[in-house]
Amino acid sequence: METILVIDDDDAIRRTLELHLKDEGFEVLSGADIASGRELWLARSPDVVILDLKLPDGDGISLLEEQMQAASDAIVIMVTGYQDMEYAIRAMKSGAFNYIHKPLNIDELDVVINKAVSQIRAGKQAKTLQDDDASEFKSDRIAGQSQAVLEIHKQIGLASKSKISVLIVGDSGTGKELVARAIHHNSTPEQPFMAVNCSAIVPTLMESELWGHERGAFTGAHQRKIGRMELAASGTLFLDEIGDMSLELQAKLLRVLQEKSFERVGGAASIPFNARVITATHRNLEDMIKEKTFREDLYFRLKVAVISLPPLRERREDIPVLVAHLLKKINRELHRNIERVPDAVMKRLLQYDWPGNIRELENVLIQAVVRSSTDTLSLDFPGEMTMTTREKREMKSLAAMEKEHIEWVLIEVGGNLGKACEALGITRPTLRKKMEDYDIKPPPR
Ligand SMILES: Nc1ncnc2c1ncn2[C@@H]1O[C@H](COP(=O)(O)OP(=O)(O)OP(=O)(O)O)[C@@H](O)[C@H]1O
Ligand SMILES: [Mg+2]
Repeated sequence: METILVIDDDDAIRRTLELHLKDEGFEVLSGADIASGRELWLARSPDVVILDLKLPDGDGISLLEEQMQAASDAIVIMVTGYQDMEYAIRAMKSGAFNYIHKPLNIDELDVVINKAVSQIRAGKQAKTLQDDDASEFKSDRIAGQSQAVLEIHKQIGLASKSKISVLIVGDSGTGKELVARAIHHNSTPEQPFMAVNCSAIVPTLMESELWGHERGAFTGAHQRKIGRMELAASGTLFLDEIGDMSLELQAKLLRVLQEKSFERVGGAASIPFNARVITATHRNLEDMIKEKTFREDLYFRLKVAVISLPPLRERREDIPVLVAHLLKKINRELHRNIERVPDAVMKRLLQYDWPGNIRELENVLIQAVVRSSTDTLSLDFPGEMTMTTREKREMKSLAAMEKEHIEWVLIEVGGNLGKACEALGITRPTLRKKMEDYDIKPPPR
């Protein structure tokens, strides 16, 4: 569990963040000024610090600079009430991980925190695996041994050499986002990776999400918002589910790609667009062009390079490699050590058609790991296989699933911790620690 320190003099913000972040499963500390913030920072070495710019006893950037000098390895997210880009730039130069504007948008903050946390986890993982099999195991490794996967590696390498637009096509769960991130990491790792899911944001908000807007651009635009295009800087703008973008926005996007510049909504200034564009979709854009729901001219701009990810059932030889890879990842995240996969289980995994592809395989394995009490993977067929397609499942973190499972076991064993430990295959101190971490109360016996 990561610790997040919030330093802000606004009581309401501190309280809101405390509640929200605790809900998200973090340990939260907070301070209302530089002095108390510094004390907590030094005493508790938080993983992430959310730091306000203007505090009653000084400015946040000085505290940031001071702590960076002192080699703090906290990830710092600056919160600025000012629309002044200079502060943001100074914060970034001083070693801030990112900055967000007030009034705080919790969704935006979540995105930034998730990125920070995955960076922390990737770093920790790199450290713990250093003398192990570090070269074999990278957080964003694309596992597989089929000809198709070798080809994908090659295409990622080629695409990483320049900043050409890349279109990634493939069914749900085939690894489109993973490939997009791999291209980014191989080409401009020090620059931002900005992902926007075109199907998750309502079209009316999409425009200001991407382009940003000026204060007063429309009713409710109380202040300037910097859009994803601008935030992507010289890094990558990843437009996921591009097939779901409205025709109107397609036309606007095309103009940005042609002119390499854009204006914020309601703004006159032309802002250069320097990011590489990666798009992904599970739809058939050529069919959409015939139906006149996708612009052909935009399609040609986007598919300078195309990477096509085949469904898992067409490369079954990757299944054993993926199982090994995903099991390692799940074991590490859940602190389990399940290594043996019985032949009968592997046979079933190889036969199944995987409509939800690798995402579905990952979900099936998580469930199985959570339920296995020995070092052998146990899987209930066919029940386990039918309930795991993406449509029927909710996106959940491993921790949330683990918490649910522990709660369920505790109820099943009538609150008997000894029996629960036996069923879960863990020791009593481990169970106690997990119950404390997840805030699980033992059920009445
Ligand atoms: N070749 C691979 N090796 C290891 N893990 C993989 C591989 N391909 C996909 N994954 C994992 O499978 C999951 C789904 O991948 P990802 O989110 O990239 O798919 P997607 O194509 O974007 O799916 P969707 O269309 O559902 O958004 C992720 O957890 C990813 O890390
Ligand atoms: Mg995706």
